[in-house]
Amino acid sequence: MANVLELQAIRKQYGGGNAPIVEVLHGIDFSLQEGEFVALTGPSGSGKSTLLNLMGLLERPSQGELLIAEQATSPLDDNQRTALRNRYLGFVFQFHHLLPAFSAMENVLMPMFAGQGKRTRAMEERALFLLERVGLAAHAHKKPVQLSGGQQQRVAIVRALANQPRLVLADEPTGNLDSQTADEVFQLMRSINQQDGVTFLIVTHDPRLAARTDREINLVDGQIARDIHQPI
Ligand SMILES: Nc1ncnc2c1ncn2[C@@H]1O[C@H](COP(=O)(O)OP(=O)(O)OP(=O)(O)O)[C@@H](O)[C@H]1O
Ligand SMILES: [Mg+2]
Repeated sequence: MANVLELQAIRKQYGGGNAPIVEVLHGIDFSLQEGEFVALTGPSGSGKSTLLNLMGLLERPSQGELLIAEQATSPLDDNQRTALRNRYLGFVFQFHHLLPAFSAMENVLMPMFAGQGKRTRAMEERALFLLERVGLAAHAHKKPVQLSGGQQQRVAIVRALANQPRLVLADEPTGNLDSQTADEVFQLMRSINQQDGVTFLIVTHDPRLAARTDREINLVDGQIARDIHQPI
C-alpha cells in the first residue's frame, strides 16, 4: 500500500528572538497508508493542531522530513507547497470556516476555482453533485447562517473534497456538535473513506468516535504515546 503521508523525526519549536524557544513536538514518526481512517487523540496542549498544521503544509517543521505522496516537502518553495496542498489535501476545522457572505454552493466551489482562477460549468456540476451526496442539494443557495451546525459541517466536508484530495485532515470536526449530529458527521466521513478510498486523519476528544476508526494515534506532551490499530 502506498504512503499518503510520512513523518520522519519531526520536531517543532516556537519562540526565538526575545521569546524563549519551546519545543512542542519532540520527534514524531509515523506514516499514513492510502485508505486509512485514523483518529489523532491526546490531551489539550499535546500538539495535535500543531502536527495537523505541519501535515497540512501550513507550517514548516523545525527539524525532520515530511513526505506527501512519497515526495519530500522540505526542499519545496512556498508556491510548490501550495500546489501540493491543493492537489493532495483537504481540511475540515471545528468551526467550519465557511465564508459567511457566500452560499453553500459557492463555498464548495471556492477551492475549485482558487486553483484555476475561473469558474466553469463542470465545477458547478461537481459542487452540486457533492452537495446532493450529503443531502444538501435543496440548501445549495443558502448562506451558512441559514444552515444548522451539522449542515454547515457537511458543507465543510464537501468543500474539503472539492479537489478530490487523497488525504483529509480534520481538526475536531465534530467538537461543537451535539452527540447525534456528531455521529452523523462522523458517519459521513467514514462513508466517503469507504466509498472513495480517501484517507482521513481526524483529531477528536471523543473516545467513542476514536474507537470507531481503524487506528488511534495518541499524542502526549509532543510525543506519540500509543499508535494502535483497532480490532476489526
Ligand atoms: N504559534 C505558537 N507559538 C507558541 N506556542 C504555540 C504556538 N502554537 C501552539 N503552541 C503551543 O504548542 C503546544 C501544543 O499546542 P496545540 O494547539 O498543538 O495543542 P492541541 O493538542 O491541539 O490542543 P487542543 O486539544 O487544546 O486543541 C501548546 O503548549 C501551545 O501553547
Ligand atoms: Mg488543537
